[in-house]
Amino acid sequence: MAKLIALVPLLALAQYASAAVPVWGQCMRASGTHCVYFNDYYSQCQPGGATTPPPPTTTTPGNPGGTNPPASGTLNGRITAKGKKYFGSCADPGTLNKSTNVGRLKSDFGCVTPENSMKWDAVEPSRGGFNYGNADTLVNWATSNGKMIRGHTLVWHSQLPSWVSSIGDSATLTSVINNHISNVAGRFKGKLYGTCFDCYDWDVCNEILNEDGSYRSSVFYNVLGANFVKIAFQAAKNADGNAKLYINDYNLDSNNAKVQGIIRVVNSVNTGGTRLIDGIGTQMHLSTGGAGGVQSALTALAGTGLEVAITELDIANASPNDYTTVVKACLAVSNCIGITTWGVADVDSWRASTNPLLYDNNYNPKPAYTAVIQAMA
Ligand code: GLA
Repeated sequence: MAKLIALVPLLALAQYASAAVPVWGQCMRASGTHCVYFNDYYSQCQPGGATTPPPPTTTTPGNPGGTNPPASGTLNGRITAKGKKYFGSCADPGTLNKSTNVGRLKSDFGCVTPENSMKWDAVEPSRGGFNYGNADTLVNWATSNGKMIRGHTLVWHSQLPSWVSSIGDSATLTSVINNHISNVAGRFKGKLYGTCFDCYDWDVCNEILNEDGSYRSSVFYNVLGANFVKIAFQAAKNADGNAKLYINDYNLDSNNAKVQGIIRVVNSVNTGGTRLIDGIGTQMHLSTGGAGGVQSALTALAGTGLEVAITELDIANASPNDYTTVVKACLAVSNCIGITTWGVADVDSWRASTNPLLYDNNYNPKPAYTAVIQAMA
């Protein structure tokens, strides 16, 4: 990043040296500023004016260890050229140890989501005992490679230590949630703002609804009722007022009862001029042929006025048609701000047996990759 900043004319730097924090950082949408595109990894926030959209990239992603030449252009370069914020992938120390995977992450993706390292069982396995080893590794990799980060996830019924799920009284659980969120979101607060204003999202609540749109049974709902959502978002807002705060769930893939349920939750939390929830994440773990309702789901979610993101995309068998249906749906809905696939290559996927990602087991781009690049041309 330091090298890139050195590209900025020194005179201009001096002129604005005392300007507000976001100016001169890697920006996405700081108000009163505009973005000047340098390359697929770095756009600089400069004072005033309208955003300069990045030109369509013609960079060819590296093909470390691969055999098929990839289509020209990068996923992130193409999607940001279309006005979106990022094309991302999940990652963590396990996949950051694989150089071929890292080559793909660097060339094609603009954002990373920790696959596991920020989940409750990873960061607070015992009450008040915080462990940030893997999360720090991910964050340090992202910041040193100019990638955005989607923090994932603060309140989730799964991968939750039993010391939390066995809490039975509301005062203790409220205090435990507040302490967890202030520590974890506080840990990474401002980590990126020096170089990357407003490019850090948090999945504050994950998978809190049933398929019929009612609240899922969990320690959080069972002990605190629906109020746990407000408690969690308020704690996240207090810990990091600049991060975009998301509610995230699966099966929000058509305009169904669960989509309507999420909309009800958003409207009940963001009442009376208070905005605690900034965005809705739809995970999109799809089955083959399951993309037909995506645009209607995104449109319904965007009807809340919030930003919407596709946060964990993978599609069984990765047909080019299914992938391009999803990508085109995001392009067609202006509030859809980005797409994250849940991994780079099939070999590292949690659904590896269904080959659901854009790269094969050898990190070579699949037909769906080429189709997605073309869909964003
Ligand atoms: C959910 C979670 C993710 C991940 C997947 C499986 O979608 O949100 O963090 O655990 O399940 O990998």
